[in-house]
Amino acid sequence: MRVLVLGAGKMVDAILTGLRKTENLSDWMIYSPSGTSASRLAGKVGARAVSDLTAVKNPDWILVGCKPQQLMELRATLGDGFRESLFVSILAALPEADQLRTLQAKDLIRVMPNLPVQFNDGVVLISSASSKGRLSSFQTLFSKLGHSLVVEEAALDELTLLTGSGPAFFYEFARRLGESFTALSSEEREKLVRQVLKGSARSLAGKESLEEMVSAVTSKGGVTIAVLDEWRAQLPKLLGEGIEAGRRRARELRALLQS
Ligand SMILES: NC(=O)c1ccc[n+]([C@@H]2O[C@H](COP(=O)([O-])OP(=O)(O)OC[C@H]3O[C@@H](n4cnc5c(N)ncnc54)[C@H](OP(=O)(O)O)[C@@H]3O)[C@@H](O)[C@H]2O)c1
Repeated sequence: MRVLVLGAGKMVDAILTGLRKTENLSDWMIYSPSGTSASRLAGKVGARAVSDLTAVKNPDWILVGCKPQQLMELRATLGDGFRESLFVSILAALPEADQLRTLQAKDLIRVMPNLPVQFNDGVVLISSASSKGRLSSFQTLFSKLGHSLVVEEAALDELTLLTGSGPAFFYEFARRLGESFTALSSEEREKLVRQVLKGSARSLAGKESLEEMVSAVTSKGGVTIAVLDEWRAQLPKLLGEGIEAGRRRARELRALLQS
């Protein structure tokens, strides 16, 4: 497979790091404006860095990995070429129709990965109206990175906050939990809380629901349930307000990018 990769930042790095464990990436070509990130990533995953896009002819598809605000510049970088290509874009916030317009393209699949794809344990949401016929082959490819799911674009946009941003929420919660205690140093407590998070994540391999897993740790009248009862009184409001702030920001970003 000959794939042109545009951008070589954190998310593209995570995707290619995950894919290279099962795919041969020697025909994949990576471009970045600096050239530095493309060369570094190409060396890491066994792909090829390219600096001259006019020398790239008919890739099977193009992975778009820049930031949403860099998309116009990226179109300029492509010159007159690649209008017939299939674009597979990881950009958050920008609707498929807007990306197609900016790229002056006809076919585009939106993909929303998260950073754990680097360990083949991520979530990849996929949507497309313009290239429905190719969705299942990309679902198969991205299932190598974890759980991949084809959804409507509205769902991809809404769930980006759950799956794309989600890892940061768990890390922040763990960090704050560790900071809520005083014994040992903060570094040693972080070590403990990381192990708790890691061990808790392993328990997810079982069939119990999250509610049952909570019950397994708590006992009536015990200390764990005392903490949870206190949190449960406040958590839905706090989570709801945070998620709403994220949605507001996504709307602002979309408006900014569309203006
Ligand atoms: N980070 C996440 O957890 C996450 C999750 C889901 C989706 N995403 C999406 O992933 C995309 C990239 O995010 P990131 O965090 O990986 O950003 P990043 O680390 O800043 O990487 C951006 C990359 O885009 C390249 N670039 C800039 N302008 C370009 C152009 N004109 N043509 C080609 N490449 C260009 C940059 O090249 P240089 O290296 O030369 O500067 C850089 O390699 C975003 O659209 C974001 O919405 C990110």
